[in-house]
Amino acid sequence: MCGIVGYLGHKSPVPLIVDSLRHLEYRGYDSAGVAYLDNENLLQVYKASGKLMNLENILPASLQIRGNGNVSNGAQHIGIGHIRWATHGAANDVNAHPHTGSRNEIALVHNGIIENFYELRQELQCKGHTFLSETDTESVVQLLEHLSQDEPDFCKVVLKALDKLQGAYALNVISKKHPNKLYAARNQAPLVIGVGQDANGHPEYIVASDAVAIVQHTNRLIYLKDGEIAEISEQGVRIMNLKGDLVEPVIETISTDPLTIDKKGYKHFMLKEIYEQPDVVRNSLSGRLQSVHQPIWLLGNTPQAEETFNRELQDIGRIVIIGCGTSYNAGMVGKYFIEELVQIPVEVEAAGEFRYRNPFINNKDLVITMSQSGETADTLAALRLSRQKGAKVLTLTNREDSTMAREADFVMPVRAGVEVSVAATKSFTAQVTALYLLGLALAEKRKASHPEQLEALKSDLLKIPARIETVLHNTEPLQAMARKYGHARDVLFIARGVNFPVAMEGALKLKEISYIHAEGYSGSELKHGPIAMLDSNIPVISVLTKGPVFEKMISNCQEAKAREARCIAISNTPIPKELQTTFEDILEIPECMEPLSPLLTTIPLQLLAYYMAEFLGKDVDQPRNLAKSVTVE
Ligand code: AGP
Repeated sequence: MCGIVGYLGHKSPVPLIVDSLRHLEYRGYDSAGVAYLDNENLLQVYKASGKLMNLENILPASLQIRGNGNVSNGAQHIGIGHIRWATHGAANDVNAHPHTGSRNEIALVHNGIIENFYELRQELQCKGHTFLSETDTESVVQLLEHLSQDEPDFCKVVLKALDKLQGAYALNVISKKHPNKLYAARNQAPLVIGVGQDANGHPEYIVASDAVAIVQHTNRLIYLKDGEIAEISEQGVRIMNLKGDLVEPVIETISTDPLTIDKKGYKHFMLKEIYEQPDVVRNSLSGRLQSVHQPIWLLGNTPQAEETFNRELQDIGRIVIIGCGTSYNAGMVGKYFIEELVQIPVEVEAAGEFRYRNPFINNKDLVITMSQSGETADTLAALRLSRQKGAKVLTLTNREDSTMAREADFVMPVRAGVEVSVAATKSFTAQVTALYLLGLALAEKRKASHPEQLEALKSDLLKIPARIETVLHNTEPLQAMARKYGHARDVLFIARGVNFPVAMEGALKLKEISYIHAEGYSGSELKHGPIAMLDSNIPVISVLTKGPVFEKMISNCQEAKAREARCIAISNTPIPKELQTTFEDILEIPECMEPLSPLLTTIPLQLLAYYMAEFLGKDVDQPRNLAKSVTVE
């Protein structure tokens, strides 16, 4: 949530910063802004509410050089930029970052929440500072300006100011009195420094919330740690802790190619990402599940890591899966699968709840933190808490360079590829596939299931990508359903067993991109409350799969039909003729073994949400109020 960029080098800073911000748009789109020091050393600020495009539209022509701003004119330039997901104060121009102090000498961009902003604001107002915005961030820039009145060393000013802050922050700061220095600081919000060189051999530095905003320019990165500050100048990067003690910078060379953000002809990223899922599952299985007779290889990095992890797996007494939103729902599928196959207790926790109680966790637990971004604040806090309590932590993430991947004991990349759409789709299937592999590996190692059962599951899992393709080839019925039910006010999703989390995920997808009220329930829970809502206006979408709960689900659908609800079936097995009248619409999808069925049943629900949102004319890829990476709690 919120993305920040800072630049020091010889290129025109604004086009480069705007281009980097484009890669951070997934972090928020409530407003965007840039600040830079011009040739006369004056602080220039441009900001606009709404998407980045609005900022681009107000920039003077001279700052609108398209591309990466690769104009090196000899002089050194400095600037900062921001993309906002509003926390404190409405999404308007005034609250947009960068914020400047009352004397317009210092500009700052911030990702995070300053918890003691109100006290700081009152204190500074008493000392004569005039605040313009409602943000927590403005307190920091006013504080910097206040402290700089009596302290010529700006590094000391930054250290003093940080000492007074409570909360989470990633900051970039520039000051007209110190035009050759860019300051960056991190506490509980990600920040990476790219160390590069322009075409003329001048050093350049790009500081951003995510490496994706940097890798077009350099793949040499310094990942700042919590409590670290960087003072960046043409001479290099000086890193220190909050006491001012120097810390040796570690420059890592990452192999990531510049990430192309391209819709590849699809109307939206979400649709493209839905269609990528057959290959995502293939990728996720590749090198890990070679054939039904070979053991599963989980981590895919080094044999030593695999061996250490396998030893760990032998001793664990319980698994605790922690995540938020879609990652939580994927974890729930994992619970059903692993518990059944391995007969080991598996609990699933919403990260935001886990971190604020005193959870029972010990060194016999394997904690699995699930996160597409690897940066979600609550999940990261849960990871740290679990390690403090002695548990080993495995992170399942789509970002191997994320903070979670760096802090976990073990990392299993889910290999979904860059996911741009705020609504997670392919990362869900990738996470579920990874949990299936983990469950199968555990069952193998602990000899918890019959080898024939494991072989059958492995064999079926290898066939899943082709079956997803079959679902993706039959979208006309889903498009017709979207037109038919698109004006519903409420939609219920029901399922049972391993597909219960799929119902929750279907509802989450629909509400986040179409803003239709939707809930996912176990079919058995319907009669304990939600059935009271049903009438002839409410579509009830049920997930029916061949297996132990098929008949139970049919009964639940009939209960809904008896209340005149409009029943829709997504079924992987033919529905007997005499029962077909229960449903207004039936979509048949390919059959597979029941424990693996979420990888198929999820796809039509993602598509239905997509087509409904599209039918309603919603902003599918960037739904209101949301951000892709939730780095505030
Ligand atoms: C999914 O569609 C949502 N946008 C959201 O629930 C997301 O899954 C959640 O914020 C967790 O993110 P993470 O996987 O990056 O931790």
